[in-house]
Amino acid sequence: MYYPDEVVEEVLRSNNIVDVVSSYVHLKKQGSNYFGLCPFHNEKTGSFSVSEPKQMFYCFGCGAGGNAATFLMKYENYSFQEALQTLADRAGIKLPEVNYSEEARKREEHRKLLMAVNKETAIYYYKLLRSPKGRKGLAYLVERQLTPETIHAFGLGFADGAGNDLVAHLRSKGFSDDVILEAGVAVFDEKRGIHDKFWNRVMFPIQDLRGQVIGFGGRVMGDAKPKYLNSPETAVFDKSRNLYRLHLAKRSKANEWILCEGYMDVIAMHQAGFTQAVASLGTSFTEGQAALLKRYVTTVCLAYDSDEAGVRASRRGIGILDSAGINAKVINMRPAKDPDEFMKRFGKEAFRERIRDAENSFFFEVRMMEGQYRMDDPAQRTAFHRAIAGKLCAFEDEIERDNYIREVCARYRISEEALRKSVASYRRVGGGNPSYGRAGVTDSSYGKSGGGNPRRQQSVLDGQGDGNIPGDIPGGEQRRRNERKDTAAGRAQRCLLTWIADEPSVLTAVRPYVGAEDFDEGILRKTAEYLFGALESGAGQGCVAAVIGQFADEKEQEAAAGIFQEHLKGITEKRDRERALRDLVYTVKNDAFRRLMQSPEPPSMEEMLRAKRELEKAGQAKFAL
Ligand code: GTP
Ligand code: MN
Repeated sequence: MYYPDEVVEEVLRSNNIVDVVSSYVHLKKQGSNYFGLCPFHNEKTGSFSVSEPKQMFYCFGCGAGGNAATFLMKYENYSFQEALQTLADRAGIKLPEVNYSEEARKREEHRKLLMAVNKETAIYYYKLLRSPKGRKGLAYLVERQLTPETIHAFGLGFADGAGNDLVAHLRSKGFSDDVILEAGVAVFDEKRGIHDKFWNRVMFPIQDLRGQVIGFGGRVMGDAKPKYLNSPETAVFDKSRNLYRLHLAKRSKANEWILCEGYMDVIAMHQAGFTQAVASLGTSFTEGQAALLKRYVTTVCLAYDSDEAGVRASRRGIGILDSAGINAKVINMRPAKDPDEFMKRFGKEAFRERIRDAENSFFFEVRMMEGQYRMDDPAQRTAFHRAIAGKLCAFEDEIERDNYIREVCARYRISEEALRKSVASYRRVGGGNPSYGRAGVTDSSYGKSGGGNPRRQQSVLDGQGDGNIPGDIPGGEQRRRNERKDTAAGRAQRCLLTWIADEPSVLTAVRPYVGAEDFDEGILRKTAEYLFGALESGAGQGCVAAVIGQFADEKEQEAAAGIFQEHLKGITEKRDRERALRDLVYTVKNDAFRRLMQSPEPPSMEEMLRAKRELEKAGQAKFAL
């Protein structure tokens, strides 16, 4: 982190998260919290909550959460520094000079320089397209039926055939040859020296999440090869972690996005109003891109070419999307070759229907498999059914699996009983395609598997671990559980931290029994350390935002915010609360003890005895709440 903790805390303290979020999301007060429609996933019921006392937000639908800075990082795609700067500006606080390490400062300067070259290059190409020299390029784009608005909106440009004009222009702007080369817009060879990389092509600037130009794709205006030339990867251009037009798609309200193969496809889509379309950047679709998509949507429709290569790419894409936990569908483009052609021949209403009728990825894959077997041969038919069973058993969720079994049996006239048996036998041997693996909902309620507490028959906590707050909104159930491997102990830890954050006085009660070191190493322990530290130095509930702010990385902030959502439900009686607290403390301690005993370096006898005594003490703790 570049700013001292006190500064971060002051900035967070000086901004009310309710005001910050309110300028983006319509919030309604309900109890001590505010609720609204989550801006990070598409929903109809408000699962998005903002807690004023804790100065944090959390979405029960998609798990997004954090403090005011996290919110801006997610919403505006700001870096932590930018988010903090924005908040400081809002509150009229002047931030100290950023305390970069020398190395970090140089890296940042360098990135800025490369961005500046890219920007200047984009402007240069843009102007050239609109000059007499660019007539050919403009004619080509118009012939491809792009409107002037589209050509403008996509910042399209033109590189003419001169060979060295861009380099000369960039030099005149003060950029050094090294920087020009490194930005990837020029190349060097012995014969010609440094010269423009792109010539005689229409140019597609590629932008990052925030709309800054990071690279280019250039297309020939005819059938020459290679059809496209792309900027190389540079310090600012990571092809596997960006998507063409993502910065615009993220503003679309569609709940199903469209993934295309080509730049021209995306442009045609956007021109027809489908601004939720994106494409990979001249390489095949990557896991990093899937992770990026996951931040915005839960369903992605593949709009790949209808030829054999497109089908292969779709199947590959489905696997990657599935692994990322994204629902994949496939849009049938036939008889058109690709989305661009489809739009020209059939128009947007027809495309809208195709989106609506997009085929679920499971059935798409089954249909593709079907072509590999001869159905009139019983042996081949059997093999086909086995392959279906193999695919089915990868659905972890029983209800989901059951639905697919029924449907696939009806469609392919397979005996349900036989298929079920086949699936069951596959599952026993652990077969199947893991790419479908959606970790099932962990519904083992905490307390039942609490492990090793003989005193407890039926705990007051049993069945309480569903993480919903009192008077919770319905979105709670659909919270994405598959993101974290849940254990009873993990839940107890989160539950205890949530309770302490809600009622700081609880910390005083439990402190003689539990310390931050009793929490799982990693984010839980760090959160405990920060929270305990802050509360013990006299901070109130509002310190939760600062605790979250201790994590520089957005994902970690989200995870930290998630920790504070494990509320006990419906326990109001004083005695029940006291028992619940003791159970929690015991479970946390018990797990810490287990960890100690299982640690790779066995504890000394003294350590072991001390831990055992502490555990016993926790088991007999009496709390007065
Ligand atoms: P049009 O053919 O003009 O409609 O463009 P398109 O965007 O539809 O291209 P196509 O479907 O042929 O290819 C899909 C994507 O693959 C393109 O947008 C490029 O990102 C990439 N691509 C295509 N051809 C080449 C090539 O020759 N070199 C490289 N590096 N990438 C290519
Ligand atoms: Mn095309």
